[in-house]
Amino acid sequence: MKEKIAEIQKIAKEKIAEIQNLQEAQELKVKLLGKKSELSNLLKGLGTLSPEERPKIGSLVNEVRKEIEEKLNEKEEFLKGKVLAQKLEKEKLDITLPGTKIKRGSKHPINRVIEDIQDLFVSMGYDVVDGPELETDEFCFERLNLAKGHPARDMQDSFYITNEYLLRTQTSSVQARTMIANKDKSPIRMICTGKTYRREDDATHSHQFNQVEGLVIDRKELNVSLADLKGTLEVFVRKMIGANSELRFRPSYFPFTEPSYEVDVTCFKCGGKGCALCKKTGWIELLGAGMVHPNVLKMNGYDPDKYAGFAFGTGIDRLAMFRYGITDMRYLYTNDVRFLSQFDRKDEE
Ligand code: PHE
Repeated sequence: MKEKIAEIQKIAKEKIAEIQNLQEAQELKVKLLGKKSELSNLLKGLGTLSPEERPKIGSLVNEVRKEIEEKLNEKEEFLKGKVLAQKLEKEKLDITLPGTKIKRGSKHPINRVIEDIQDLFVSMGYDVVDGPELETDEFCFERLNLAKGHPARDMQDSFYITNEYLLRTQTSSVQARTMIANKDKSPIRMICTGKTYRREDDATHSHQFNQVEGLVIDRKELNVSLADLKGTLEVFVRKMIGANSELRFRPSYFPFTEPSYEVDVTCFKCGGKGCALCKKTGWIELLGAGMVHPNVLKMNGYDPDKYAGFAFGTGIDRLAMFRYGITDMRYLYTNDVRFLSQFDRKDEE
């Protein structure tokens, strides 16, 4: 019996030494120590032994059993450590490798200009308001003194969606919206920037562009005048284009202002001497402006005997072109990264 146990012990040690992986260790454990193992069978057969031998053999079997179990556990721990080491080796990170470069987007020149305009006018106490791009004929034209069939509607070729709805041709629609929205008819000082749409199909015009609109209305006795309009536009243009810009008011016509002006600025390129950009005139046409027409005040709930105001509007795309020396309007819309990335962090320089 003792020899048999020694034999089991010997074979077990050999087998344990041969184990290659955790699975084999599990299998061997069942084989050596499980219910059907030789050791278990020996224990079951203890009853056939003499009473003197029984406890000796019993404790011997248990000792061997304990030893095998310990050896197996040791082996398992060793194998587990090996697996972990392999895993760590495989998943090793080289923290000295350079990181993945994340490209930063840049702010579009048009958005830069819009933000600058908003900052400037907010600093002068204006509200920044918004209006819909899908506009009604009423707000885009009628409430701006352009009745249906008015010949001046031809100045702006429109995209009509239905008889009543169109894509706004001008942010001037927001003038009417602001006056109507202001229920207690108090003074107004607002600007609105946003997209506008016209059916233009030549090379220098886009069907979609951006405008900024300004509207100031105050009580008549405060003498809101052309001088205020001129002063405001001077601050605006000098801030946006150049401190030395001069303005020139040319009489013009807009149905919603009276008198109306087109405002030219000295050419930012030649400083007014005359060059190819300004077609040798020294001036560049920039804004539309004027005193709010009494009809417009009336139609939108302001008594023209008590209130007066001025309004102005200009294309933001052109402003951006002047400001950054962009020669072709199409660069603003073709989203070429080589162009756009030039504006990367420009403000921080
Ligand atoms: N809305 C006019 C245009 O698009 C510009 C303008 C605005 C003129 C405000 C006068 C007052 O041409």
